[in-house]
Amino acid sequence: MAPRHFLDISTLDRDTLRGILDTAHNLKAERNAPLLSGLAKAESYASQSMLKGRVLAMIFEKPSTRTRISFDVAMRQLGGETLLLNKDDLQLGRGETISDTAKVMSRYVDAIMLRTTKHETLEELADNADVPVINGLSDRSHPCQILADLMTIEEAHDGVIAGRTIAWVGDANNVATSFVHAAAKLDFDLRIAAPKSLSPNADLIEWARGEGCTITVTENARQAVAGANCVVTDTWVSMGDKDVDARVAALTPYRVDAALMKVASADAIFLHCLPAYRGKEVTADVIDGPQSRVFDEAENRLHAQKAILTWCLAHDAELT
Ligand code: CP
Ligand code: NVA
Repeated sequence: MAPRHFLDISTLDRDTLRGILDTAHNLKAERNAPLLSGLAKAESYASQSMLKGRVLAMIFEKPSTRTRISFDVAMRQLGGETLLLNKDDLQLGRGETISDTAKVMSRYVDAIMLRTTKHETLEELADNADVPVINGLSDRSHPCQILADLMTIEEAHDGVIAGRTIAWVGDANNVATSFVHAAAKLDFDLRIAAPKSLSPNADLIEWARGEGCTITVTENARQAVAGANCVVTDTWVSMGDKDVDARVAALTPYRVDAALMKVASADAIFLHCLPAYRGKEVTADVIDGPQSRVFDEAENRLHAQKAILTWCLAHDAELT
């Protein structure tokens, strides 16, 4: 059977995406049930052996706090183990091909997570691996992050994302691209406010509209945020971006502050994948204020990644 790669939300069918999200919610509920009933911790969890004996290799070409820790803890909580690898510690750093690396690693480990500077590396790894490959962020997209964001939005809005309006404000970067992919699959309206120089790729928007998605691209942040149920932003300078001064100049009008949040719906939440830079893309009063859900969002990385891992590796396992 071909391995189940998790490279992009755009490659998943709607039912699969819905299924992964439902599993993520269920795994979170299972983990948090003892806490909610006043117990410090459960003696055992139904999911704790789902990935027993499985090993996930994690390769990082860029730094990470959340992705690294949440994947590691996710594997441990599901009974599996991880190997943490930096590109420079592998022969990859000395020119061994991605294809040979994929074939060799497939003989040792059960899945590979890669955070890479080039999305093409991820695709080449997946094309040559016999085990699932997971996108832990590329220059093109960040699908694991968006699963956590979708969970957080559903938690804040009665479990329903369809029909909601999400406003992305700032650089239309890798995280924004995965939001576009998700909008095309889950029937929410997406509005992207970005300066012309950092607006989303026209082909991406055309693809999303072709999928039946209602997507607005504007240079006007207030127009994008008006009445929205969720306001999202990200750093102005992503890992690998060089044009710092030009970015800061172009993005300063897109800072999310209290005045901008006021034009959103009264029930609007604020999301940011983190790491955040207070006073740059978002003011401290917003990210540390009552509408912010950024730490739920960060927690949800753990639950979402467990759902991705079980989808990739435990096709037949059922949560009891
Ligand atoms: N949001 C996110 O992916 O964080 P890290 O870069 O810390 O993994
Ligand atoms: N857009 C950011 C996300 C970091 C998690 C980056 O690529 O650096």
